[in-house]
Amino acid sequence: MTDWDQHAADWDERAAVQTYAVSAFRSLTSLAEATDFNLAGCSAFDFGCGTGLLTEHLASVCAHIDAFDTSPAMRDVLSAKIDRHQWRHVRLLDQLPPAPQRYDLIVCSSVLSFVDHYPTMVDRLLRHLAVGGLFVQWDWELDPSDDQSHGFTREEVRRTLAEAGLASVAVGVAFEVTVDGSTMSPLIGSGRRPRPDS
Ligand SMILES: C[S@@+](CC[C@H](N)C(=O)[O-])C[C@H]1O[C@@H](n2cnc3c(N)ncnc32)[C@H](O)[C@@H]1O
Repeated sequence: MTDWDQHAADWDERAAVQTYAVSAFRSLTSLAEATDFNLAGCSAFDFGCGTGLLTEHLASVCAHIDAFDTSPAMRDVLSAKIDRHQWRHVRLLDQLPPAPQRYDLIVCSSVLSFVDHYPTMVDRLLRHLAVGGLFVQWDWELDPSDDQSHGFTREEVRRTLAEAGLASVAVGVAFEVTVDGSTMSPLIGSGRRPRPDS
């Protein structure tokens, strides 16, 4: 199991994670445009925020962001950024939000393959998604024929999001970028919380 605290201090110095965050945010804005989801002024929950590389991009468009990560050292890095930027609209949580809290957008960037049980965590997170809200996850694509491969298959993501009750579920390659000679092509999975009568 990864000790994420150990990675916090130099996480932001890695070119690959910086590029990943920029590319993930671009893929989010493309998805929002394509599906008529208004990112501007939305409320967001950044689950598994790490040092806040994606949070930083969200902070430029969202009206309010709650961010949570289980690693105190990762949270400390984001906390320093919040202070430095004087972001009053970004709140760092040290646990999952309380039950009544609902968001227009929930993002999970490269975290769901690390939780104990993926479908249970998706169910738990979706309690916080407003009706009409958008859920988005980015993860490595699992190659079942490769023992060293990590992540999810497209079918696993599609099934999990659909069984959790999301509508308009879509799964595909989020982006493809090459950093230091290695190419990243993670999956993006998304869905909307349907209106009760739809
Ligand atoms: C690969 S990093 C991604 C961080 C950030 N989302 C990014 O894109 O830079 C994975 C993060 O997931 C966090 N994490 C792992 N298990 C978690 C859990 N059960 N709940 C919340 N965060 C978790 C780790 O602490 C770590 O910061």
